[in-house]
Amino acid sequence: MSTVLIVEPRSSGLELVVRARELGHTVLVLAAGAAHGGGGHIHTEAGREARARAHRVISADTADRAAALARIRALHADTPLDAILPGFEHYVQLAADAAAALGLPGIDPDGVAPLRHKHRMRRALDAAGLDQPGHRAVSCERSAAAAYAELGPVCVVKPVDQSGSLDVRKVRSAREAREAFRGARRSGRAGGTRGTGLVLVEEYVEGPEYSVEGYVEDGRVHVLGITEKLLGAEPHFVEVGHIVPAQLTASPARRIESYITRVLAAVGLRIGPFHAEVRMSGRGPLLMEVAARLPGDRIPDLLRLARGHDLYEIMLRCYLGVPNPEPAAPRGSTRAGIRYFLRPGLDSYREFRVDPELRSDPRVREIGVLLPPGSALPDPGSSAGRLGYVLASGASYRETAGLLQRAEASVTFS
Ligand SMILES: Nc1ncnc2c1ncn2[C@@H]1O[C@H](COP(=O)(O)OP(=O)(O)OP(=O)(O)O)[C@@H](O)[C@H]1O
Ligand SMILES: [Mg+2]
Repeated sequence: MSTVLIVEPRSSGLELVVRARELGHTVLVLAAGAAHGGGGHIHTEAGREARARAHRVISADTADRAAALARIRALHADTPLDAILPGFEHYVQLAADAAAALGLPGIDPDGVAPLRHKHRMRRALDAAGLDQPGHRAVSCERSAAAAYAELGPVCVVKPVDQSGSLDVRKVRSAREAREAFRGARRSGRAGGTRGTGLVLVEEYVEGPEYSVEGYVEDGRVHVLGITEKLLGAEPHFVEVGHIVPAQLTASPARRIESYITRVLAAVGLRIGPFHAEVRMSGRGPLLMEVAARLPGDRIPDLLRLARGHDLYEIMLRCYLGVPNPEPAAPRGSTRAGIRYFLRPGLDSYREFRVDPELRSDPRVREIGVLLPPGSALPDPGSSAGRLGYVLASGASYRETAGLLQRAEASVTFS
């Protein structure tokens, strides 16, 4: 089979490593090693997991574009690569640069900015005349307060370059906008790449939220599913769960699909998977963000369970330049969902208990903890504060949502 290089896999990127191996590929991982300490971009836990799963791990300073590219070229001279894939949001640019340098399929390196930076994404949508939340990119507290005055009374302040809802805050006053600006600016700087110093202030959009999963091949958009998103308590926006596919009638689903197809053309994505988040507002679907990578939070696994679409394999084929067969039309009402357990206020726990009946229910595919007993529990304001999860699949939306709810109500952290 083929030799693929996955750059800094995390989250679904780690599942991609496993799936690529299952599909018979030789899987190499490029990751910052312990030798490159101090950059703030090194997630040793993820690094360890990638090491355990790949055929081979190549160490490189992945925050240094020139050094990482030189490493990849040297590797390619020795072990010819058939594809280079981003393993995580922050490495979409590096993967695109490397693929272009080696003449492999990939995202146009000059077109990555609107896919990676939220202010550039907003600019691309404005240029295409697409409706979206009002927004301003600001670089100081004073302009954050001015943007709030213009877009308020309710706004969202967020880093242009982060993920996991880190430092994304709903604000209701100029003072809160200034405060949130300081938080967003801090986490923008701590990102895997050099920060832009910019923060987005946006009009707050009310409405249910969905993500749209799919891929682009030869410039053609394929929507594989619309995911319903469950969110935690505001002013934060922690993702508490997802159900695939969402409970939507044909007409709003079609509206979302056609909006996202135009969004993808506006941001110029022509190859590989995408994950787009929208809120259904009174004026129609409005984009939260779009990313040129696999969705996180096990959504690819949910999509596979509920719909039979294998987004990992699809991504590999896109980046290998092997055309995907036309996706089969969805059949049946099977749903799959994940629900995360949040316990704000808890700062540690000793024991996690699950109702044995639930654990032995065949519809409950997985149930467990993400933060082991005894660990210090992080701030519940981002996805890092999620204690555990249940992943389940049922014959209908109601059955699946009910299972997730039952699990959430019955597990205890003491
Ligand atoms: N303008 C807005 N109006 C309403 N809610 C918003 C707005 N912008 C962001 N949010 C909420 O905050 C969440 C996180 O925002 P966003 O997706 O931009 O940040 P992120 O860090 O990339 O998040 P993640 O990686 O968790 O998807 C959104 O999914 C949405 O629920
Ligand atoms: Mg998001």
